[in-house]
Amino acid sequence: MRHLIDILELSVEEIDELVAVANDIIANPEKYQEKCRHKKLATLFFEPSTRTRLSFEAAMYELGGNVLGFSEAQSSSSAKGESVADTIKVVSSYADIIAMRHPKEGAPMVASMKSDVPVINAGDGGHNHPTQTLTDLLTINREIGHFDNITIGFCGDLKFGRTVHSLASALSRYENVKMIFISPEELRIPEHILKETLEPAGIEYVETTDLMQYMGELDVLYMTRVQKERFFNEADYIRLKDSYILDLEKVHCMKEDACVLHPLPRVNEIAIEVDEDPRAKYFIQAKCGKYIRMALILKLLEIK
Ligand code: CP
Repeated sequence: MRHLIDILELSVEEIDELVAVANDIIANPEKYQEKCRHKKLATLFFEPSTRTRLSFEAAMYELGGNVLGFSEAQSSSSAKGESVADTIKVVSSYADIIAMRHPKEGAPMVASMKSDVPVINAGDGGHNHPTQTLTDLLTINREIGHFDNITIGFCGDLKFGRTVHSLASALSRYENVKMIFISPEELRIPEHILKETLEPAGIEYVETTDLMQYMGELDVLYMTRVQKERFFNEADYIRLKDSYILDLEKVHCMKEDACVLHPLPRVNEIAIEVDEDPRAKYFIQAKCGKYIRMALILKLLEIK
């Protein structure tokens, strides 16, 4: 039985296979509409979500399966003090596969050790978000066509941004990938990702506070939100929240075939006017999330 807790648990070949299946689902959805008949997905969301939870649920429905679960901790027995371990033990006797989001880093890992069915990490605190990374990779595959030989800028909250941690780790396994980390000093990418993942892989990277410094070199600009829910001190959040605002004037300095991605939700960091620019791919990216999650559900349930 396989779980998905960290994106690096999937080999490069497995990621290629998931992307290929997702592309086939997009081209031939009718082939897949009964694949999960009589299967149940449990979505256990202890933290708010729109895209991840609903795309997982849409994915399972489009595969012909069913969905159960909760969308906030307060409507589950964790509000009465039940542990994650006990919740998972019980839910894994009701469902065939579980997608779980939790504010505590490592909670899905604990869940996977107690579960009788595959557990998917749907985001754990400021740690990892592997299915967002699969979503990002499918979008890059469809919009750019390759993962090698790209320059990607990550901008915003790189400290707590779990989507950044997972995507940078995933891309570290490809050839000639250059990473530009753009953040305020206080929200720099964690040193362990630089030292333990990127440097051993020989990835060329730079850190800067200036969004415009490398703008013309980027193939992908990955914008992120400064996340209010990760700050202990509201004054720090207010000081940092509008550090970077991508507007059309800035986008016009990018290459014509570059992509602007964002895991969403956005607050102020991308001006609405950017949505109409052909480089803005973040809504296409959100749509890709459903297809790659369909591919992942099939893989973890070992359905051909
Ligand atoms: N990208 C993402 O995880 O969005 P949600 O928080 O809406 O699921």
